[in-house]
Amino acid sequence: MEDAVWLREMLSLEMEVRPPRNLKAEQKFLDGNVATLRHDGRIIGYTDLRDYGKTAEITTFIIDPKYRGMGNASKLVLKAIESCPQQIILCCTKNPKMAKVLENCGFEITHWPGLKEYFLLTINTIKRIFSMIFRFEFKRLWIQAKGFMKYKIYKLEKQ
Ligand SMILES: CC(C)(COP(=O)(O)OP(=O)(O)OC[C@H]1O[C@@H](n2cnc3c(N)ncnc32)[C@H](O)[C@@H]1OP(=O)(O)O)[C@@H](O)C(=O)NCCC(=O)NCCS
Repeated sequence: MEDAVWLREMLSLEMEVRPPRNLKAEQKFLDGNVATLRHDGRIIGYTDLRDYGKTAEITTFIIDPKYRGMGNASKLVLKAIESCPQQIILCCTKNPKMAKVLENCGFEITHWPGLKEYFLLTINTIKRIFSMIFRFEFKRLWIQAKGFMKYKIYKLEKQ
């Protein structure tokens, strides 16, 4: 449960990612399709990997504040790419650091990720909005909504 406690703490702290759930639910996420980064055995980075069939999405990407600015985000993106069986990987962000990390790892901006992908990304955005409303996470909702037009879709096609 140590990882789930860490993940809940990070999700509570960071407003640009999904809201935290209870420990059991976070443990379920950790047991699912995710990539993690560790330092001396302790978790310091986490990302969800959504399976869209031929495409995967990197989402809910977090590096522990104590381990930022050291290239750990790039390491986690590369780990996520490796662990995805899909050839095409997407990531939506308006965070300039995250955008830089994605570009460093070979991602490029795309305006059209494909019909199915566009549909699934939209559905997941709507689900996240409702999840924030139901949890009364209005500060988080505001922070994510205010820069909505700045979100860009990054795409990587594995060689
Ligand atoms: C975004 C996040 C993952 C970055 O982690 P990090 O450990 O600082 O990232 P790294 O050190 O690996 O790389 C950051 C890169 O951004 C660059 N950078 C730093 N500040 C920047 C800025 N204001 N604008 C553009 N690039 C910037 C760095 O120079 C570095 O690039 P370089 O390796 O070419 O020098 C981390 O800040 C985080 O977890 N944030 C909270 C959660 C979040 O917002 N996640 C993204 C949601 S989509």
